[in-house]
Amino acid sequence: MNTIDDNHLMKVTPRPDLVMVRGCGSHLWDNNGRQYLDFVQGWAVNALGHSSPEVRDAIAGQAELLVTPSPAFHNAPQLKLAARLSELTGLDQAHFSSTGAEANEVAAKLARKWGQLHRNGAYEIITTHDSFHGRTLAMMAASGKPGWDNLFPPMLAGFRKVRFGDVSSVAKAISAQTVAIMVEPIQGEAGVVVPPPGYLSALRQLADDSGVLIIFDEIQTGIARTGTLFAHQAERVLPDILTLGKGLGAGFPISATLAKSTACCFDYGDQGGTFNGNPLATSVANSVLDVVCSADFLANVTCVGQRLEQGLTEIAVRMNFKQVRGKGLLWAVDLGSEVAFAVRDACFQHGLIVNAARPAILRFMPSLRVTTAEVDEAMDILDASLSSVLAAA
Ligand SMILES: Cc1ncc(COP(=O)(O)O)c(C=O)c1O
Repeated sequence: MNTIDDNHLMKVTPRPDLVMVRGCGSHLWDNNGRQYLDFVQGWAVNALGHSSPEVRDAIAGQAELLVTPSPAFHNAPQLKLAARLSELTGLDQAHFSSTGAEANEVAAKLARKWGQLHRNGAYEIITTHDSFHGRTLAMMAASGKPGWDNLFPPMLAGFRKVRFGDVSSVAKAISAQTVAIMVEPIQGEAGVVVPPPGYLSALRQLADDSGVLIIFDEIQTGIARTGTLFAHQAERVLPDILTLGKGLGAGFPISATLAKSTACCFDYGDQGGTFNGNPLATSVANSVLDVVCSADFLANVTCVGQRLEQGLTEIAVRMNFKQVRGKGLLWAVDLGSEVAFAVRDACFQHGLIVNAARPAILRFMPSLRVTTAEVDEAMDILDASLSSVLAAA
């Protein structure tokens, strides 16, 4: 029987019978004083680790000045963040929201409006099987998550699914109704599925040849997660629309939709939202950018990421697992058998938080400031947890 009284919470996910009370860097502590090494970090959200000094200071400093003047007024942190993100991405304008799903909704609306203006009312967005774009009704329709098709019928029309990583299936799906192609540069929730090299640039070329827009959903891969500031920069391609979330606020809710000026076609009233671009959230994001754009930050993500890759590969080879895949500090192991939930639970018992993205897939997305010593400690716990689960299987 639970000792935590959660009767007044809607049941949307199973939770262990404890409360998390404190976080610092790579560690979390529960109400029993137990410490956990966190390699999930709020689902790749706490880019700077739990309760980083930069996020704390930005919240405290801005809260003293101004929290929400109303989106009907300019505020300085929002203007600064829009200009910085434009410069860093090479895109022209930004709109801020609070969650990844909202940022993607804005991207889809922008594409549909662009289709009305420039492509004879075309509205269909091509997305990929197994993709994840959020949990609003429209983004559930956009996502290719198995089992979501019939969850809340009727599903919003206008999204067509193709195989991820396969340019020819996108080419075949493009029609007069197509307005955009929308992909994650690496599919995160699907279990860190990395497309073949050249995929994003081939899609860019295809979009140009077909006169449609390309949208990169970098909610999970953006803000240095894969070792470049944005994952698409590794292929030197520029989308028409880019969405960011998660790491942008390093734990504080903020997301962004950026676009080329050619795709920025909203009229007044087409988009809005009570909390959009509020100075509290945008000043946190500015402080996150100060850190991730500082010297050596990206090099460190790559370097510690290699250590994580090595550790996972060494275990995978020894235990004969199917595949280790990922980039930067976003990794997954395909265990080849459906023991991921049991391994996740065993790791938790041993003080390590990892994610089971699929029944056979473990996912790792630590703080971007995780140390090599913490990676080594995580690998030791993972090794022991795997051994105990596999011995019992
Ligand atoms: C690629 C991608 N897009 C969108 C989302 C949705 O973000 P949020 O949960 O902040 O709405 C996620 C969340 O995991 C994601 O990984």
